[in-house]
Amino acid sequence: MISKKNDEEIRLMEYAGKVCYDLLEAMEGFIVKGVTTKEINDYADKFIRSRDCIPSELGYEGYPASICTSINEEVVHGIPRDRKLKEGDIISLDVVASYKGYHADTARTYKVGKISKEKEELMIHTKEALYEGLSVIKEGAKLNDICEAIENVAKKYGYGVIQELTGHGIGKTMHEDPYIPNYSNEESKNITLEKGMTLAIEPMFSLKGRKVWLLEDDWTISTQDGSPAAHYEHTIVVTEEGYKILTGE
Ligand code: MF3
Ligand code: CO
Ligand code: CO
Repeated sequence: MISKKNDEEIRLMEYAGKVCYDLLEAMEGFIVKGVTTKEINDYADKFIRSRDCIPSELGYEGYPASICTSINEEVVHGIPRDRKLKEGDIISLDVVASYKGYHADTARTYKVGKISKEKEELMIHTKEALYEGLSVIKEGAKLNDICEAIENVAKKYGYGVIQELTGHGIGKTMHEDPYIPNYSNEESKNITLEKGMTLAIEPMFSLKGRKVWLLEDDWTISTQDGSPAAHYEHTIVVTEEGYKILTGE
């Protein structure tokens, strides 16, 4: 069952989303050579709480930190620790905050100093895929229109689409129906978007192979071939005319 939210619920999600957005913006200046992912995590935790929200990822299915910090070949769910960022790294931050019980989920990939052209393009194109996916959203469209639009961008540039991880509905819980794969699929063709549905759209692309595995910490998902990955995510609400980003300015 896909839940639809009323205006008040959307307002709460939008507040949580604004806090996440402001945090990711602040991080643009904080992500530099030498900073550790633990320091990033602690900054994020304080930031979220100072704005009356709760970092939803902490304790989620036992996840041990307040945000996810995934470096280079790590795709998602990297656990913050004492690893220092190096010049040339890319790092994806994935943040979920809740306000009065309503969640918003957003992610962005950052560069550390000067990075390779391949990494730079991967970042630009994964972000492009997020906005291509969003562009088809409106009441009456099929969920698969989003999936297909995202996949088309990956195909255009020859990237790997991570299949084990998907976007999702979101609201009173972090993950709700429906699953939103980043590739065209039959199940999504049967779902029609309706006003008030709140969705987290999140392309995850790798430079080369799409295969991933779980690292020994039991959380971090990494590409098997070691090629770098990028991740961009917004939480949106479907409207009559299109959509509204809840994790934006
Ligand atoms: N934010 C992730 C998503 O986009 C979920 C992370 S769950 C955690 O769906 F436990 F790893 F934090
Ligand atoms: Co996320
Ligand atoms: Co998500």
